Amino acid sequence: MPYKITVLGTGYVGLVCGVGLADFGNQVICTDIDGDKMDLLSKGFIPIYEPGLEEYLIRNRKEQRLTFEKDVDRAIQNSDIIFIAVGTPSKDDGEVDLAFLQEAVKTIANKSTTPKTVVTKSTVPVGTNRWIEETLKEQNPNIPFSVVSNPEFLREGKAMYDFFHPDKIVIGTDDQKAQKTMQEIYRPLYLLNTPFIFCNYETAELIKYANNAFLATKITFINQIANLCDEIGADVNIIAKAMGMDGRISPKFLHPGPGFGGSCFPKDTRALIKIGEHYDTDMSLVREVVRINEKQRSRMIEKLERLLGSLQGKKICALGIAFKAETDDIRESPAVDIIKILLQKGAQVNLHDPQALENAKKLFENAVNYYEDMYQAMKDCDAIVILTEWNAYRNLALEKAKSLLKQKIIFDTRNVLDPETCHQTGFLYEGVGRR
Ligand code: UDX
Repeated sequence: MPYKITVLGTGYVGLVCGVGLADFGNQVICTDIDGDKMDLLSKGFIPIYEPGLEEYLIRNRKEQRLTFEKDVDRAIQNSDIIFIAVGTPSKDDGEVDLAFLQEAVKTIANKSTTPKTVVTKSTVPVGTNRWIEETLKEQNPNIPFSVVSNPEFLREGKAMYDFFHPDKIVIGTDDQKAQKTMQEIYRPLYLLNTPFIFCNYETAELIKYANNAFLATKITFINQIANLCDEIGADVNIIAKAMGMDGRISPKFLHPGPGFGGSCFPKDTRALIKIGEHYDTDMSLVREVVRINEKQRSRMIEKLERLLGSLQGKKICALGIAFKAETDDIRESPAVDIIKILLQKGAQVNLHDPQALENAKKLFENAVNYYEDMYQAMKDCDAIVILTEWNAYRNLALEKAKSLLKQKIIFDTRNVLDPETCHQTGFLYEGVGRR
């Protein structure tokens, strides 16, 4: 029987989950406190760039499994299962801001008139799901509530694929009925033998942080090895490849670059440090990861200064501002920090990005020149700096670029180009951890 599900919060995670759960055959209502966003989504306008999302959204709306509802209370009342997928951003001190989540829980408590299973998709600190359970019971003792911690591991840019092909589904609850319900909701994955991990709230909450902090650590490790390679003339790509052949290590997340960014890794590593502080437990490894990662941005600037001398008055063609390829998301993007430093140092920035220019304009306004065509952005520049690993940059027409630039310099912070080909074309090429 199709489950009646409401997804509260239509950011990346909420929207992808809503669309995916509908595709599994569930009856899904997506809702959000941002009424304008609901209006846009109802008209078929998708506020984010995520490959594949539009096709799935259109299909499930057409087949009437997916609706967008402005009235949050009504959405809650018309469903049995509520996925909370609201934002849980970082406060200045690194602690997680739970204001949206607390608001959502209070609304669910006050507006529910029938039994509900409340599923937490948002990444939340240890203890939050227990708090949700207690709050719901306290505020509305007449309604039976079940709570499940069900963290999401999807990657932006590959979110639809990840939703349908997850490595695991984590179900954090001791409530056996809720465990069964979750298995039913995810039935197509269960039938495909996707591993389901059943555990308590705290374990599920910590799985998410441990998972992300480990990946962030892996990136940071290879970044430090790359920095060492720069000094000694070794090639980090070959090192990463060789390391990846060790089955215990795996080749994934060993790509060096300007440091990790995005809406998850920076926030989740900072939050894990705070959780450690709260429980008086040493999280110094993760603390170092955060520190080293921030330093990696300035290291990119130092490398550029080694190539160009003073950046004052230099004209830089910045290729990419998204925090990684296949997304328009610039949250905590290393490219944003690097461009900010370039501007502070008196450089002029010509920016190209295939998807993220609109977001960049909101942030940098008139401080940067924006280009839809990457070759136009190169005209009379002192250097090209590749900041995001878009495929378009892997296939750069080097001869054309050479004819447009003032100085023939490429600084490739994502190692997307072949150094040898760049040298042969007459470029001074610099990557990260390889020359
Ligand atoms: C991440 C997790 O992968 C996902 O499981 C979780 O649900 C949310 O956070 P996402 O933020 O979409 O997903 O991006 P991801 O592909 O993991 O990359 C994160 C950052 O690390 C990016 O800035 C990326 O450029 C960087 N990165 C990644 C590297 O610098 N090197 C690598 O080898 C891999």
